[in-house]
Amino acid sequence: MAGRIPQNFIDDLMQRVDIVEVIDSRVPLKKAGREYQACCPFHNEKTPSFTVSPTKQFYYCFGCGAHGTALGFLMDYEHLDFVDAIEDLARSAGLEVPREEGPGGSYEREDSTGPLYDLLAQAAHFFRQQLRQHSEAARAVDYLKGRGLSGEIAQAFGLGYAPPGWDNLLKALGQDAAQQTLMERAGLLIKKDGGGLYDRFRDRVMFPIHDRRGRVIGFGGRVLGDDTPKYLNSPETPVFHKGRELYGLFEARKRERKLDRLLVVEGYMDVVALAQYGINNVVATLGTATTREHLEQLYRAVPEVVFCFDGDRAGKAAAWRALENALPVLEDGRQARFLMLPGGEDPDSLVRKEGTDAFKQRTGDSIPLSEFLYAELCGQVDMSSMDGRTRLVNLAKPLLKQLPAGVFQRMMVDRLEELAKLPRNALAELHGQPIQEVTHKAPSRPARSNNAMSPLRRLVSLLLHEPRLAGLVENPAQLAEVHLQGAPLLVELIDFLKDRPHIHTGAVIEHWHGTDSGRHLAKLAAEPTHKLVGDLEKEFLDGINHLLAKPVDQRREARFAELSRKQPSQLTAIEKEELKSLLRPAERPH
Ligand code: UTP
Ligand code: MN
Repeated sequence: MAGRIPQNFIDDLMQRVDIVEVIDSRVPLKKAGREYQACCPFHNEKTPSFTVSPTKQFYYCFGCGAHGTALGFLMDYEHLDFVDAIEDLARSAGLEVPREEGPGGSYEREDSTGPLYDLLAQAAHFFRQQLRQHSEAARAVDYLKGRGLSGEIAQAFGLGYAPPGWDNLLKALGQDAAQQTLMERAGLLIKKDGGGLYDRFRDRVMFPIHDRRGRVIGFGGRVLGDDTPKYLNSPETPVFHKGRELYGLFEARKRERKLDRLLVVEGYMDVVALAQYGINNVVATLGTATTREHLEQLYRAVPEVVFCFDGDRAGKAAAWRALENALPVLEDGRQARFLMLPGGEDPDSLVRKEGTDAFKQRTGDSIPLSEFLYAELCGQVDMSSMDGRTRLVNLAKPLLKQLPAGVFQRMMVDRLEELAKLPRNALAELHGQPIQEVTHKAPSRPARSNNAMSPLRRLVSLLLHEPRLAGLVENPAQLAEVHLQGAPLLVELIDFLKDRPHIHTGAVIEHWHGTDSGRHLAKLAAEPTHKLVGDLEKEFLDGINHLLAKPVDQRREARFAELSRKQPSQLTAIEKEELKSLLRPAERPH
């Protein structure tokens, strides 16, 4: 487990990197006035609407609405996760990424993963070398040829050979006790009961497993004959987690310039065999079911995932599990499909039998999740009876509730109503809550509550584009009394910016990375800047003062309500005076 990356490091890093450099090295930019432009890498276009602002350290696309910081760009363009993107940026800025000690004292462990990666790379090199040089290598080469693999494809996947014997790798890489301990931690050696160590992988074809960045993190080893276990995988280690990693993702991204769909299969050999047949967009789970983490990784890389399963009973059950896991991550724009193979075939055997085109055809004809889900459920009930259709609704309900709110969820509910012969919107309660904008929380006069959010939003937006404005607020703590949703963020923002008058928009957004606030800020930053004209200082201060008047208004309202509930005869003279003054408009502080 990695220690947390300290927030102040991220803040500093964002101040140091230049978004123009980061993007320009991947998508060449042209200067256009004070900004830079290119054709948008996130959608197809002929004239450039992708714009990078060096002053704000922020990009946005007028065409498709994509927007973000240097960090966000790296994550989206290179399909990296947050930590990987930070590490990449840090490397290009010549910085080490520090880690905070986690609750489990994980700091030290993380610190020592560097040597593990080195060691695993050396082991992969050793296995490749053995496939060329070892006296027994001919058996392994024959095996691979027998399975139809070319030398070129074996090389592309870095296949190797662990020779027979108990200590080949041990002798090659384990010079001293420290190194041997490291090899054991990397999952390469096994400790004997009576002490002493031996090679985990013996007389097997070796498939190195890479992480997304191409570092070797583990191995799968296949026997040459019919021994068991057929495949031996690296155990869980500090750098290898089966439930997270996908075999072939690195290779797919390297071999295919643009990935828009990934096929998920069960076996190493399926990935390699399909690549041999020119189908490169394939990954395999490592002998485990598809986890939520796998799905997150997949959808970070592509919008469409096709799950490929054996058409037998076990395959169907596994497909259903994958479906259940996929539901919560199916935001609009993400698609899941299912490819059920004829019984007894796996992708490897099928592509050999039918060829590339037929296999691609099958992928294209795969069943969308919506169809698969309803076909399965309808098969479980008697659709001709009312009872059966009621049961269908009850079976589908908990599944549809898992879907994120959005268009797809609505369409799935519509379809259920259709199937159950219910009137439209009969199941409206299944629609998720629409995502709420910042709204007025405290009750107030209805005429004002509708647009009460916009001044607050406007203030945040002004600050985001002109962080120096924060310096104008003398006492941000006063604002904390404002009971409006979004006010806490405004106060936090002002506090943060007061100490950092020269910070740019991008760094501000990344300070709130991964939170709703961060997403809100990024959205505001992407709004057209032509709205930012006029005397911004005056507008900002007026807005702040208007907000500061609110707590007064709110107290006055509460007091007014309290007094006006009483009978006039019950009021004291002082209270009568107070009531009168409350009926006059409030004075505004200036
Ligand atoms: P399969 O048994 O379907 O093997 O296991 P396969 O991929 O078709 O292998 P070949 O074609 O006989 O070479 C599918 C996957 O399950 C895991 C591996 O990840 C394998 O690729 N597995 C299988 C193991 O981890 N250990 C095993 O003993 C068997
Ligand atoms: Mn197979």
